[in-house]
Amino acid sequence: MEKNFKRTLVTCALPYANGPVHIGHLAGVYVPADIYVRYLRLRGEDVLYVCGSDEHGVPITIKARQQGCSPQDIVDEYHNIIKDSFEALGIHFDIYGRTSSKVHEENASQFFRKLYDEGKFITRESEQFFDPEANTFLADRYIVGTCPKCGHEGAYGDQCEHCGSTLSPEELINPHSKLSGAIPVKKKTTHWYLPLQDYEQWLREWVLEGHKEWRSNVYGQVKSWLDGGLQPRAVTRDLDWGVPVPVEGADGKVLYVWFDAPIGYISNTMELLPDGWEKWWKSPDTRLIHFIGKDNIVFHCIVFPAMLKAYGDGFILPDNVPANEFLNLEGEKISTSRGWAVWAHEYVQDFPGKEDVLRYVLTANAPETKDNDFSWKEFQTRNNSELVSIFGNFVNRAVVLTNKYFEGRVPAAGELQDADREVLDAIPALRESLEKNIDAFRFREALKDAMQIARIGNKYISDSEPWKIAKTDLARTGTILNVCLQLCADLAIAFEPFTPFACGRLRRMLRMETFSWDQLGKTDILPEGHQLGEAELLFEKIDEAAIQKQLDRLDAIRAAREAEARAELAKQVAPQKEECTFEDFEKMDIRTATVLEAERVPKTDKLLKLTIDTGIDKRVIVSGIAEYYAPEDMVGKQICILANLKPRVIKGIESKGMILMAKQGDGSMRFVTPQEAVVNGAQVG
Ligand code: 2FM
Ligand code: ZN
Repeated sequence: MEKNFKRTLVTCALPYANGPVHIGHLAGVYVPADIYVRYLRLRGEDVLYVCGSDEHGVPITIKARQQGCSPQDIVDEYHNIIKDSFEALGIHFDIYGRTSSKVHEENASQFFRKLYDEGKFITRESEQFFDPEANTFLADRYIVGTCPKCGHEGAYGDQCEHCGSTLSPEELINPHSKLSGAIPVKKKTTHWYLPLQDYEQWLREWVLEGHKEWRSNVYGQVKSWLDGGLQPRAVTRDLDWGVPVPVEGADGKVLYVWFDAPIGYISNTMELLPDGWEKWWKSPDTRLIHFIGKDNIVFHCIVFPAMLKAYGDGFILPDNVPANEFLNLEGEKISTSRGWAVWAHEYVQDFPGKEDVLRYVLTANAPETKDNDFSWKEFQTRNNSELVSIFGNFVNRAVVLTNKYFEGRVPAAGELQDADREVLDAIPALRESLEKNIDAFRFREALKDAMQIARIGNKYISDSEPWKIAKTDLARTGTILNVCLQLCADLAIAFEPFTPFACGRLRRMLRMETFSWDQLGKTDILPEGHQLGEAELLFEKIDEAAIQKQLDRLDAIRAAREAEARAELAKQVAPQKEECTFEDFEKMDIRTATVLEAERVPKTDKLLKLTIDTGIDKRVIVSGIAEYYAPEDMVGKQICILANLKPRVIKGIESKGMILMAKQGDGSMRFVTPQEAVVNGAQVG
């Protein structure tokens, strides 16, 4: 980190309080931010770590309506779930605030009011959809209809969650209000807009000229927005949940959630430090870092900076915005609505004591430069083969052997041999690399550096075999274990940002009461004679059953989704065929018949051989219905057949006629049967 800053303010995207957080959020924002904060603090930097719930926006109001409660009830519930799951994973913000707080309402209001008073907004009249029965304007999400792309009936006015298409309410077939079912009408409304285009040149200079060091995904997205030309952005909405627009004649209007949410970072700081917040937001000595996911880039790199610039008054701008890409789950996009996610609060219940494992895996596989995938198998392998077999195993061997041969006291380091020096000399270089990587927000690489210390230690202890040498040369065993224990202490420091729980256990084992980043790579972190504590297991293996349980849960979601998709498809009705004449129809001799015998046609999946009584004769018909009916289901059933279809030989069997089937949109079939029993051979027509 450059040294011309005195302090660092780290913010994490405020999660929407309309659902719990999942591994995508953790990998994208909160785990990397936490690593960064822990690292800076270990280095003795002055850091403030701010987050909180984003409690406004339309989806919260929709959820409340669905559940028959108030939006406040919804945000109260999820605020606590989210807050607790962060805590459980060792993510301790200095403040985890909420945008429904009084402080925030006042601050966001005041922010808007100042820009309003100074003429920084423009107003525009536009036509918005309005529900004439509920007498309210409708956000796009409140308008539902049939998706023009896939035919899904519950598509929203902004998106079809079934096929993922982005939509506008105008595109929906049969649009209706989610509130009353009424057909929405267009009605004029006036809103306030921030004229972003006025800030375009300034943004170009600030980001494109001034921050070439930003991640290429962030820089690229900003560039493409700027190259596309900025437009005025509405900062108010017609809605009854949010911060009321604090001006005359704005009844029924609130600040747009993306206007008030980033101001929430400031409000939360004010709430924590009513008298000291300005130092964090208005001093050029403060470095501001926003941790966000890629879908938030435009808001943090264009809109919020333009808001701060418009506001003036010395507000600082972000020094960096290390936005991550997305994490997928088992090869599919994480989807909250479909339940395709691993929820943080469920993880901590399912894997108690394994908080570090998730932190580790999400970092080792972090979507820093491209979308990545989380799989439970990889999770298991990284735990069992890396954390347990390398890190944990090395520490365990070092501590157990010290207990065995030296009663748990750090033995003296005698004369060092080349192998010892090689190992000890490797650490400062790894430390330097680790620092460079974290400073540049390359947490995956930084984690590899930390793990390399454990790999080196593991190899060293295996190669030098102190347990064998102990039989002949206890002093040499002592030297080797001294080196190993220094490496263990290095690990307790280097891994602290990544796996803080295990590092706490490790430091307890090593009785490291104080520690700092500066000690990393020193050869005397643990002095000779220092008494170690009890050996504890740093990591435990994760068995198949625990992984299978998670996979089964996902399989059940997949199966339910497929069934739902089939049901949707089944509903699709084929268009009517070309006109035919009565004479055409008359040619077909359709009769009732009863199935006497049924058997599968060998070596086929789809065919049944049915012997039927047609009233005219007994005959065989081969029919492709084995996917839908077992032979025993068919025997005794009365059906309809096309009796005069020209016979065909199917799989060597002569089939005389055809069973009439009702075929649905998904291809599934049901036989057609008379409502009441009739004689066989009755003519259908
Ligand atoms: O995308 C989201 O989850 C938003 N709630 C993030 C808001 S970040 C900040 F601006 F508050
Ligand atoms: Zn669709």
